[in-house]
Parts: sequence; C-alpha cells; structure tokens
Amino acid sequence: MFKTAQWIYTDKTAESACPIFRKSFTLSEGLCNAKIRATAFGMYNLYVNGKRVGDALFAPGFTSYPNRVQVQEYDVTDLLQTGENTVDVLCGNGWAVGFLGRGNTNHFFSEHISLRAEINMTSADGKTECIGTDESWQVLTGTLVESELYHGDIVDMTAEETLLGTALTEERDVATVPDGGVPVREQERLAPFKLIITPKGEKVIDFGQNLAGYVEVRVKGKRGDKIVISHAEVLDSDGNFYTRNLELARAQNTYILSGGEDVFKPTFSYQGYRYIRLDEWPFEEVDLSCITSVAVYSEMKRTGNFLCGYEKINKLYQNTIWGQRSNFVDIPTDCPQRDERLGWTGDIQVFLHTAAINYDVERFMRKWFVDLRLEQKENGAVGSVVPGVANRGERTSTAWGDASVVCPWELYLAYDCKDELEANYPMMQKWIEYMHNAGEEEYLWLGGDHYGDWLASDAILCPEVREGATQTDLIASAFFGYSVSLMAKVSRALGKDATYYEDMFLKIKDAFQRIFMKDGLPVLYPKYDALSTTRPVKALTQTSLVLILKFGLYKDEAERVALAKKLVEMIDENGGRMSTGFVGTPYILEVLTENGYADRAYDLFLQEQSPSWIFSVNRGATTIWEHWDGIKEDGSFWDHCKNSFNHYAYGSVFEWVYGMALGVRVCPDGAGYRKITITPHPDRRLGFAWGRIDTRLGTLEAKWSYQAEGIRYDYTIPTGCEATLTLPDGRVMNLTAGNYTFVTEDK
Ligand code: BGC
Repeated sequence: MFKTAQWIYTDKTAESACPIFRKSFTLSEGLCNAKIRATAFGMYNLYVNGKRVGDALFAPGFTSYPNRVQVQEYDVTDLLQTGENTVDVLCGNGWAVGFLGRGNTNHFFSEHISLRAEINMTSADGKTECIGTDESWQVLTGTLVESELYHGDIVDMTAEETLLGTALTEERDVATVPDGGVPVREQERLAPFKLIITPKGEKVIDFGQNLAGYVEVRVKGKRGDKIVISHAEVLDSDGNFYTRNLELARAQNTYILSGGEDVFKPTFSYQGYRYIRLDEWPFEEVDLSCITSVAVYSEMKRTGNFLCGYEKINKLYQNTIWGQRSNFVDIPTDCPQRDERLGWTGDIQVFLHTAAINYDVERFMRKWFVDLRLEQKENGAVGSVVPGVANRGERTSTAWGDASVVCPWELYLAYDCKDELEANYPMMQKWIEYMHNAGEEEYLWLGGDHYGDWLASDAILCPEVREGATQTDLIASAFFGYSVSLMAKVSRALGKDATYYEDMFLKIKDAFQRIFMKDGLPVLYPKYDALSTTRPVKALTQTSLVLILKFGLYKDEAERVALAKKLVEMIDENGGRMSTGFVGTPYILEVLTENGYADRAYDLFLQEQSPSWIFSVNRGATTIWEHWDGIKEDGSFWDHCKNSFNHYAYGSVFEWVYGMALGVRVCPDGAGYRKITITPHPDRRLGFAWGRIDTRLGTLEAKWSYQAEGIRYDYTIPTGCEATLTLPDGRVMNLTAGNYTFVTEDK
C-alpha cells in the first residue's frame, strides 16, 4: 500500500491536540500525475498548497483499529505546481485517540495521533517520485486548538501558526487497507426555524429538525471576540435548554474571531441536536441568516419513499428517515448525541431491513461487516459493539450477536450480493456454534448475560431494569432457532447443503417445547432468570408470544392459533398497547398480520398512547426516540441518562409497512427483488398507502387506495422482477414487468 511512508507522530501533544504535519518540496516542470495516499490513527484533513483536498469528513473512518485502518487515495495532479509546493495534514483525535465509549476515557486504540501518507508523482518523461511521511516532516500548531468527537471543537483564529519541530517515526502493527466504505459528507443545510429566549434567559435557536451534524456560523466581528455554542435535542418542560441526556458529551464548540470574515464549523466532531444555545455571542443581535444547521452522514443513494393518507404516519416515516441519516455516520450507530455513537449490533440487526429500503446501504454495510468478522472471538462470540470499544458492549447478547447472521442475510435479500453472503458464511457458522455450545442444553441457549427485551415497558414495576420482563433464556433460545433457520436459507442460497441447519432447527424447536412450553403457553425456565433477584421475569409476555410465533417455535397449527389469540388478549389487557422493547417490537405487527389480525396490527400502529409510535409524533418528535416515552405525558423525562431522542431501532416498523401493509416482500430464492410476493393489507384509516423502491432492477411501486368503486391497487413491476400478487379477495396472479391496476370490493 505504501512505498516509503512511515508512521509519524509528535511527542509535543501538550502543545498541540490537533497537529499539522507539513512537507514542502520543489517540483520541476512536466508533472502529469500525482496521487496522495493517507491514513491516520485519529482523523485527518489534507491540504495541498492551502487548498482542502476532497470534501469527505472524518477520514480515515472508524474501523477495528487494532486490526486495520483504511487508506484513502486522492488525485492531486491539478493542485500541485511547478516550483514550491506544500502539503499539510491537519489531524485530530477522532475515534482512535479521542474520548470514546462510557465515561470520559480516551486513548483506547492509540496513545497519540499518527499519520502515514505519501505523494506519488509521475512526470511526462516517465520519471516517478515518492515523498512519504518521515522525520523530515514538520509539526506545527494551527488555529484548530482542540477537536473531540463527543466534546466539540475549539478554534482560535488569532492563534499564530507555530513550528514545534519535526516528526518522530514509529512502527505500527496494523494492516493498511483501501477504503471500503462510503465518504461521510455534508448533506442537507437547514436554516434556523426560530430564535427563542427561554425562561432562564438563554438565547436558543431551534432548527426544527433533530439531526447529526454541525452548525456553520459566518460572522465578521472584533478580533479576539468569542462565540460559544452548546447543543441539545430537546427543551425541558419549562422550555429551557436541556443537555443532561448528552451525559458526558460536552457537545460544545468555541470559536475565537479573527477580526475578518470567519466561517466556523467543527472539523473532527459532530453533534446530535435540534437546538443550539448561544452561550457566548459577541453581537447585539442574532442575525439568523449567518447560522446554518448542516446534516452530516455517509453518502447513500435514497431508494425508498412512502406516503399515505394519514399525516401522523407520514411524519413518523420522515422521522425514520432522519433517524437513519443521523445514525449512518461511517458506521451504523445507536445515537448521535451522547457519549456513545457506537456500532451497537442489536440496533442494526433490528433496523437493517428498513434501512436497505430507505437507502442503498450495500457498500456502507460491507465495510462494517469486515470489522464484524475481524472482531468475532475465537469461540464464535460476536460483540455487542463493533468496532469494539473496551468499556462498552461487554455482553455477548442474544439479538445483538445475531446481527452476524441477520444482517448479511438482509443485505443479500436487498441487493443479491452473493459474494458478501459467502464472505460472511464462516462468521455466521461460528456464531451458530457459539450458541450451540453456550448452555447446558445443546439445543437451547440457557444462561448468559443478555440485554433482554431492551427497554420494554413491561419492566415498569422495576424501572431500573432495562431488560424488560421477558426471560432472557427464552429470548436467547428463540433467537438461536431464528438464526439457525436463516442459516438453512443462507446455505440454500449459496448452493450448500442445508440439512445440518434444518435438523438443528427441529431439535431447537423440540427442546424449546420441552423446556419453555406447558399446556400451550410459555413457562419459566427456573434456573437462571427466574431466580434472579435483580431482574424479575415473567413467563407470559407479549414479546415471548411474538418470538414463538415469528420464529415458528409453536408445536402445531392449533397452538399457533391459540398463541396469536393470547397475544391479542394481552394487548387488550394492556389497554390496547404494546409492552414490547427492542426484541419484540420489530415483529409484533407482522405476527398479528400473519395470524389474521391485520386490523389489530393497525390499531397498534395508530395507537396514540405510549407505548406507541405516534406518542412521540404527537409530542413534536422529528426523529425516532430511544424510549417510547422519552418525554412523558406530563412533560417530564423518562430519565436523565440513556434517553436519546434519535435512535433508529423502532423505525423498523417500516419493515411491516412495506412488507405487510403494502405487502411487498423479497423471496429468499429471488434476492435483489428478482422474485417478490405482494400481499397487500389495506386499511381504511390510512385512506391510501404508496411506496416506491428503486431496486437494482428498476423502480418498483405499490399502492392501494380507498375509492368509490372499492379498493384500488396499482403496481409498477421492474424488468427482471417476477411478482406473485395475492389480493385480499383471494385472487392470485403472476406479474412481470409493467403497470397493473386491480380493484377489489371494499368489505
Ligand atoms: C444503546 C443501545 C444499545 C444498548 C445495549 C444502549 O446504551 O444506546 O441502543 O443497543 O445500550 O442494550
């Protein structure tokens, strides 16, 4: 990858948290090609002769640093000149060196920033020259004083550039690999919505949209004057600026003015916010036209769209889109605001299906899968946070580790990327064997340390318990069955023998029936959860029924029918509401619909009381909340910590919207939308529902609408797609490329 470049660093870290590594050199005439390759421990921005190269943010990206760092390549032919040239590389701590994970801990992956870069030049006469990082590179300080992912930037435009000396070299035992991801870039730009003076007298600007990004400020003021900006997702019930849920993330940017025209924005940090507070603002007035909120996320093509005749659902859809934008920042993160922003495996396991409809996420996910594979333990264990961070995601948890099977499968279904599925197959096999060997029962996963039905509301009797009331032994055993059943599909898709997994699933089902089911209902496994004093559990929960139904662990058809009926009863007993968390929620509407209760699925979907999707919409949410009731009915907060207003997990309800309400699903033997089924479940309350997916084959559209003549269905099928349409009146038709319209009676 590198011909001559060495890793360089500076030991003058006290003088400069954001060093500039500089190389000046003379070029004679005739340059015809010049490329720079660069990577770093930390983040870097590259400048040639004072000009920023490219517009990607946060290079070299977040990877499993102990194993690999990505190398970017830039064509700089047009930026170099005959005569004197200067290459500057500005660095910051980023993920590798800065504060990351729980608490205020830094230096997880490296004690200091390190850079490795080289300029490869070819001239017209074929001569080549390579200038790589070595001891001759200068180290300087500049105007970027500090830049921390969680804490924000400090920029001092009055600071003089100071030469600290020359770089030191070092050895690093890490693979340098080509960048396999997609660049993080500035995306939407939002003007301020309004200026608020809060009851506390704070100057607050509302941008009207929660997002991940940063605020750009263009000002001209007195040299040495200072601007300090804090960020928040919400205001408290009194209307004051609220930052406690950011926990240890300071999320504050400080700018010292040059005296000329200044454009300020962070360089190696971003914030999750809807509001900013001007903690220090050196002007009489706040000219809103000089302040812009800039969304920052990985470059992805938008591929999905949805609209219906129910405004609150349309808003929920927009919130899901913003949830994805905010948490697809180089890796799939849990949230963009507090001191986490990590690759929680459970969250993407839940959301990937929806994400892959909304946007083309293939390349983005492929990069993350490399790290998922690299970080799998020898014994097959898959972490809860990838790339791993020493003080987060310690548990090897069911539904989190299952991301290693579910996610590659979902990506394959969406994009028909067989090579990626093949590349992940050994990891998937190892995860299955990990579960297979985990407990004392060969075909169940008993014991272990899990996140349970994370944040389910049925743990309400014991609010400090976040794992919900469903026994984790049952969840873990059910997910073991689910992943094994997917492995059978994966094996078939790859032309491999699937009998091992088919048999294993039947054995899991038997063991599950023997240990967890009595008289057709779930019972407690007495040994682990039930004895736990810290985590009270129940045998019968909505989530346990949902999992048994979704993963096909019921004994026979009669049991399936009875369990579905029981689920409906339990929802009724809970005031027509769910009590499910991260694990049960993604499937509850699907399970109801599949079992003949589509109307009840819609009831939950349109429910206004918490726990429900519309509860947050009614409270002005512009993204999906981590907790159903992050802000409660009375305006108070669910809690002061772990209360994000921008978690995508519950946005996974759009998997049901596309897959069951509109009814469009990809068949396992027709990945990439080559073969789909369309089984619409219209509901009058929505009036109409329309979805469009720009598949790799072309545009696929599905719509139903309530009309005077009945329910009308419109479809556009792309070339290369075979669809089997099943209408509610029982008609079944095969559709190939073209446009279709049908009408059924409105019963
Ligand atoms: C994260 C979650 C994550 C969970 C693990 C939280 O702090 O924000 O989304 O999955 O921990 O249970």
